[in-house]
Amino acid sequence: MATPAHVAIIMDGNGRWAKARGVPRLAGHRAGVEALRNVVRAAPELGVAYLTVYAFSSENWSRPKSEVSDLMGLLRIFIRRDLAELHQSGVRVRIIGDREGLEPDIRSLLEEAETLTFANRRLTLVIAFNYGGRDEIARAARRLAEAVSRGDLDAGAITPDRFAAALDTAGIPDPELVIRTSGELRLSNFLLWQAAYSELVFLPCYWPDFSREHFVDALAAFAGRERRFGGLAPREAVS
Ligand code: IPE
Ligand code: IPE
Ligand code: MG
Repeated sequence: MATPAHVAIIMDGNGRWAKARGVPRLAGHRAGVEALRNVVRAAPELGVAYLTVYAFSSENWSRPKSEVSDLMGLLRIFIRRDLAELHQSGVRVRIIGDREGLEPDIRSLLEEAETLTFANRRLTLVIAFNYGGRDEIARAARRLAEAVSRGDLDAGAITPDRFAAALDTAGIPDPELVIRTSGELRLSNFLLWQAAYSELVFLPCYWPDFSREHFVDALAAFAGRERRFGGLAPREAVS
């Protein structure tokens, strides 16, 4: 069975999960962190080498202040509590998104996590935090434009590969599979460049209910897909 090397997940539905139980949204986000822990444990066992999770979008700042601060708090707790275990189990942590907009203490936690786990190879966990695909693309374009104006880069040398190397995900292969929970059928500004040819799997379950079985089912759905990349299916291409 073809297993994707890189799976990216839009972890959506924490709020509705909480609402259905009559508990505060924060309880949904906490349960969401628990689901994340389980997925991180399952990924390398299922043969996945890169796992990207959408944790906070560049548009999530528009939520009420208290929810934004709850989500910042949960990231702090996750890194503080789980970093040692992640490191021990061979997980490399990478963060994508705009760090400049984050509090200094969060920025240093993120740097600590990346530095400590740099040499780990069992799984690369990419956390998309204060991430937006358009923002990432605009920042990459700005960086390349600056290199051109300094005279360090020839504008004619900007190819898709060179552009990809200026994105936050430089060095990370594109996700073969993107999963979104909660029944919403959209990307919400996630990995716009990288997901150009990703297979998409949308699941009705809310993120806190996402289990190893859901993960296995999504991988099976992926294995049943025919990927063509604009070409023809192998059997049609023969003649
Ligand atoms: C996903 O759950 C978590 C984040 C966006 C941070 P939501 O908070 O979006 O949950 P719903 O979509 O309101 O149910
Ligand atoms: C996408 O979910 C962002 C994350 C899961 C972090 P949202 O809940 O923010 O997306 P929309 O608003 O439904 O498109
Ligand atoms: Mg949502």
